[in-house]
Amino acid sequence: MLSSCGKLILFGEHAVVYGRPALALGLPEGLRVRRLTATGGALRLRVPAWQLAADDGQPGKPGRVLRRLRQLVPGPEVGFAVEIDARLPAAAGLGSSAALAVLLVRCLARVRGQSLAAAGVRAAAHRLEHIFHGRPSGLDDTVASFGGLCLFRRGGPQRPDPSWRRLGRDALQLPFAVPGLVIGDSRVPRATAERVADVQRQHRAEPARVEGLFDRMAGCLRLGLAALAMGDAAGLGAAMNANQAALAELGLSCPAIERLLQLAARCGALGAKLTGAGGGGCVVALAPGREAAVAAAWREAGFGVWRFGPSAARQEVAE
Ligand code: PMV
Repeated sequence: MLSSCGKLILFGEHAVVYGRPALALGLPEGLRVRRLTATGGALRLRVPAWQLAADDGQPGKPGRVLRRLRQLVPGPEVGFAVEIDARLPAAAGLGSSAALAVLLVRCLARVRGQSLAAAGVRAAAHRLEHIFHGRPSGLDDTVASFGGLCLFRRGGPQRPDPSWRRLGRDALQLPFAVPGLVIGDSRVPRATAERVADVQRQHRAEPARVEGLFDRMAGCLRLGLAALAMGDAAGLGAAMNANQAALAELGLSCPAIERLLQLAARCGALGAKLTGAGGGGCVVALAPGREAAVAAAWREAGFGVWRFGPSAARQEVAE
């Protein structure tokens, strides 16, 4: 059945909107089609886990996304009715809107009998992300389309190692596993577009300070990548903590995130940070061998938990 990936940003959220690199991991089967049927032209969508039901005649963002989608996929004027199983939380920093955009493109291509390569799916989904977010970097739709561990930079990241596979113009897929990741959900609602706008306001008011923070984040990513390449978990954790400090200086943390990070550190995590736009949503902790302890502490404190398998290729979302 058709599916799409969620994403977990390990380094570089927000900075990526301003041309810095970001590193993110695909969360396979974040969304999966439960039922897909062709229609005479109308587009209808249901995601019960998100209490979302929309059609292409409706006002509002989901209706606009469906109307735009119709123009993005070639082929006969066939539509669809689709029901989707969501294993990702909506609007929590795990790339739910990009995963939805990618899956909708795949569904329409399927009922119209088109075979779209991942790069074509990504390009169409990126246009839909503009409706959801206004100014998406492209990171989320890239990871949602291709999956794996992606190094992304607008205009193309450097490729220091020829074994890193190029994914379209802006991204490379890296052959590293990231064992020991646990995701905590603050359950504090947030909106990506608002957090991106906050950062934009700060950038206009104090460009030197904010550019300096973005440079620091790029430095964290470099250290993190070097640590990943050497299998140095402690180094990777330290780089994640440093990235979190820069995000907090941009005002993107919140008391629930700070509490999640504290609990993770107390349970032996080597590093942790918010992931996604911040201001709520999810955090990611690196806690190899201590995953269960971190998860238990978070659950006991009333937070949500998502856990992953040991290798990038076999990552599985599990609650
Ligand atoms: O919170 P999410 O899953 O929508 O991720 C947003 C990531 C940002 O870097 C803040 C924005 C972007 O377009 O890359």
